[in-house]
Amino acid sequence: MAGDASGVLYEAVPYPGNPFPQTHPDRLATLAQLYGLRPAPPSACRLLEIGCGDGGNLLPMACTAPGSQFVGVDISPRAIARARGRAQAAGIENVTFEERSLADWQPPAGAFDYVVAHGVYSWVPDAVREALMALCARALSDHGVAYISYNTLPGGHVRDILRNLLKAHVDEAAPPAEQLAAARELLDVLRQAWAYDAELHTLVSLATKMREDSDALLFHDTLSPVNRRMYFEEFLAHAGRHGLQYLAEANFWEMQVGWLPQGLRDGVLATEDRLRREQLLDELRMRTFRQTLLCRAGHELAETPQLERLESLAVSANAQAGVPDDQGRVAFTGANGSNLTTDHVAVIRGLERVIAAWPASLPIADLLPADADLEQRLILTEALLRCYSAALASLHSEPAAFGTSAAERPRVTPMARLQAAEGPLVANLRHEPTTLDDPARLLVTLLDGTRDRAALVAALTESFGGSVASSELPGWVEASLAELARSALLAPS
Ligand SMILES: C[S@@+](CC[C@H](N)C(=O)[O-])C[C@H]1O[C@@H](n2cnc3c(N)ncnc32)[C@H](O)[C@@H]1O
Repeated sequence: MAGDASGVLYEAVPYPGNPFPQTHPDRLATLAQLYGLRPAPPSACRLLEIGCGDGGNLLPMACTAPGSQFVGVDISPRAIARARGRAQAAGIENVTFEERSLADWQPPAGAFDYVVAHGVYSWVPDAVREALMALCARALSDHGVAYISYNTLPGGHVRDILRNLLKAHVDEAAPPAEQLAAARELLDVLRQAWAYDAELHTLVSLATKMREDSDALLFHDTLSPVNRRMYFEEFLAHAGRHGLQYLAEANFWEMQVGWLPQGLRDGVLATEDRLRREQLLDELRMRTFRQTLLCRAGHELAETPQLERLESLAVSANAQAGVPDDQGRVAFTGANGSNLTTDHVAVIRGLERVIAAWPASLPIADLLPADADLEQRLILTEALLRCYSAALASLHSEPAAFGTSAAERPRVTPMARLQAAEGPLVANLRHEPTTLDDPARLLVTLLDGTRDRAALVAALTESFGGSVASSELPGWVEASLAELARSALLAPS
């Protein structure tokens, strides 16, 4: 598209990609099912990522779903060359990359079950933003789900104060390194100057945070030539003009009211129109960013997640069960600090089984006794939905299998090995970014499923070059494998 200079900037300052679990087809399919759609199974779907960069999000997805097809589009030749090189290096064949502007590309209508655009919509010129929504609408299959992230108002007004100051003082024509240095210098000046007034505290913290942002984030987010923030309702109106409607937020817990003081929750919940409620939540939260899921406007969606639909899903939980109190109540606490207390025996037993299976997920139907009546089913599914709302548990459209450290020749995916060779950030099998230290990275690069314990210790002895006592290595390998298994990095044998 003429006048779309976005690609040039991404050539100058690359934007390294990451896995985003909230864009994974499992997440999108789960939410689509809960609200009444019949989405394609993540293990046999077609997913398009718009603005896929170097494939940091797409490649780990493709690597773990060989029965699905993935396409990435990006305007940056440098990013696409890297994505293609990485696909080849990891032997991932179910992904293709298109080097072009999204505005110049017309895939066959209805060709994708999932369309993902993370970090693109707010940062491109108006005409490209229009083309992006049109592309989502064209490419989506009937029960397809589109994910679009964007900057929101009114929360974004605060960020705009800083952005506008930076844009006024930093020369957009200067080389990127100079722009970044000038921006950081100005942020420093501002946060020192504003310290005189407690009312400016929020701006001081934001300036401090922005100053610490990576070059990629500071340059492509805050200093971007375009950074269009909008009200949720404005975004929905845009989607509506293209025949799309609101499905949900990709992070289900962001649609909840639990974080509000009790006295305010009821008022929000009393707002019956769920779109109005979402707009109200943005105001109460001063939210700056959304990750919204859309689907075709023709579908009649459920107002709230359908409990009976949970029975066709699976559940996983990285949580701990407390000791039962004298009334038989057990408090479950998630890794994120969220909690749920229940005295219902079937719920307690069910959650205990789910926690013991971590990181694997269990079909919810299997947690119910074969002769469970409607009331028992409702109690369990309602409790699991509450866990999902609090991010204490995850729901999955398909149960997933993981490797255990007991495997004779443990393995990780080829993509994880490639990422570990490249740097500390590796996508696990839940599509979450995990950070590894150098020794763990080295171990991961060796886990191709050909080495038993003795071979791993031998290879590590050579690589560590005596920096670790060889007598300690077998124990270290065992402990590290257990940690990798818990971090959902080991693949099934
Ligand atoms: C902020 S980055 C986000 C990359 C990745 N989705 C992520 O979130 O990590 C925006 C990406 O959109 C790409 N992009 C910008 N304008 C584009 C266009 N007109 N067509 C296709 N890709 C574009 C850039 O090259 C860049 O890779």
